[in-house]
Amino acid sequence: MISLTSVSVELTTAFFIVLLLVGPMFLWLRKLESRPKNLPPVIKIAEAELFKRPREAYETALGKYGPVIAVKRKGRVEYIVDSSLTHQVLTTNHLFSFEEGTAFILNLYYFKKLFTAFFVDIDDLVHNVIAARMPLVVEQVFPVFMKHASNLFDELHCLREDAQETRYVHGLDHTHKSISEAMALIILGPDFVNPTNLLAVEKVAHDIAVVTGLYQNTSWWGTNYPDVWRLFTWSVLVHYWDSRLQIWRKLRKETYDSDIATDSPEQFKGSVLDFLGCKFTNRTSGRIGFSAYLRITALVLGIVFASVHQTASVAVWVLYELAMRPEYQSALHEELFDICGVACSVDNANVSYESLQKAARLDSFIREVLRTKGDTLSTCRLTTASVPIGGYVIPKGFLVIPLASLSHMSTQYHGPDAEKFDGARWVGTGKQAVTVNHTYFPFGLGRWACPGRALAVAEIKMIVWGIICCSKPILKGGMYTVPDPLNVTSVAPSGEMTLVPFNYIA
Ligand code: HEM
Repeated sequence: MISLTSVSVELTTAFFIVLLLVGPMFLWLRKLESRPKNLPPVIKIAEAELFKRPREAYETALGKYGPVIAVKRKGRVEYIVDSSLTHQVLTTNHLFSFEEGTAFILNLYYFKKLFTAFFVDIDDLVHNVIAARMPLVVEQVFPVFMKHASNLFDELHCLREDAQETRYVHGLDHTHKSISEAMALIILGPDFVNPTNLLAVEKVAHDIAVVTGLYQNTSWWGTNYPDVWRLFTWSVLVHYWDSRLQIWRKLRKETYDSDIATDSPEQFKGSVLDFLGCKFTNRTSGRIGFSAYLRITALVLGIVFASVHQTASVAVWVLYELAMRPEYQSALHEELFDICGVACSVDNANVSYESLQKAARLDSFIREVLRTKGDTLSTCRLTTASVPIGGYVIPKGFLVIPLASLSHMSTQYHGPDAEKFDGARWVGTGKQAVTVNHTYFPFGLGRWACPGRALAVAEIKMIVWGIICCSKPILKGGMYTVPDPLNVTSVAPSGEMTLVPFNYIA
């Protein structure tokens, strides 16, 4: 005899089995229904093609299926748009979010949840304390660049007549060291500049570059197992704690005046850290609380990362392109002498931000290197809603990336010789290396365009001047290679260079 209880148990079990089977299907159908219709076409491109020949791969797909395509990379779908939609994507901030997109692509999702105002704070800081004080900043760091150039010169034995064999160095070692010291001076102040701390700054910049995925394309784990890779890389941030301790000690030692930061930041004479100390000091207690300290360290490390790594890589691009094109070396050398009148050196106080701004030929050369170095997926946004664009609808929460090569190398924008490198192309056009628009955006575009670009270009000019004031750069084997064609801004070209004094060359 079947009891009532066993019937009800069986019914309940059957109910749960049906629920288990039908439930997910129901949810899946609902999700499918709520997905926007008219999605852009999904184009399958082999990952090897994307990583080795990104320009050809994406341009061919957009040419065939554009103006918006969906492509899977590193286990996620990304929407790539052609040049006709670049301006719309990079400047319509309420639909295409810079903050969400950057946090997503740099693996900073949880960090952004913790420090919600991070991007606004850092943007404000760079605008007010660096960009607005460029003359003071250049005055402070010019001797650093000249000192490193002079050390490099000595290291390579360029001046020794008896040097038997040519010595070479990696350009990145030189640019990374010089820029790390310059940024340590600007951000942390002169008291902080000693060999141990400089090494820490270099390491922090490198470690954060690893954590944020800048080397992910060149790592086997990064491309094949992106999630495992992300988890692992967060564990390398050991030097971060080192630096935080140093910043903590400095903040506890000093007394800060909170009015200075609010009155007129551009008049402020101290370091970025001093400025933050003033800004976050509690007016009543005169001390810096623990949450303020966390915000300060996050901002300091954020600026170290944003300012050191990319600028050092791009400076290598400029140096190596200059080494490959001897026809520009004498012209830039002459321009330097025309502006400064005397040799540019550590003791030459005549070099100022104004002098750097007068260097129109060098500025044009830098802009042309930035335009032609091969940017592809460089600037991104994340959709905040389902967005109609280019005849399709991109769903909420996806990365949208304009293909930079289509704008930077466009014959429509830059004339029939757009593919050709012309270092003097921009002289007298009013377009400087820092002037961005939809035809040229290595520093991004719109509200979030890089606030540190004036400093980045000034630093690159100082690096070039430090070298061409008395020597010419030459590359080993006359060439360099590109380790990561999909990330040319953050991963420097690979190669070795030497310096030859001007008077040694016929
Ligand atoms: C050659 C060197 C550099 C390159 C190529 C570069 C490029 C960029 C790009 C592409 C963006 C995103 C813009 C967008 O999506 O519209 C950006 C943002 C940013 N950059 Fe740079 N950058 C460089 C140097 C610097 C330096 C030296 C600093 C600091 C002193 C800096 C600070 C920032 C900050 C704070 C942001 C976040 C956006 C914002 O606050 O508006 N960058 N940069």
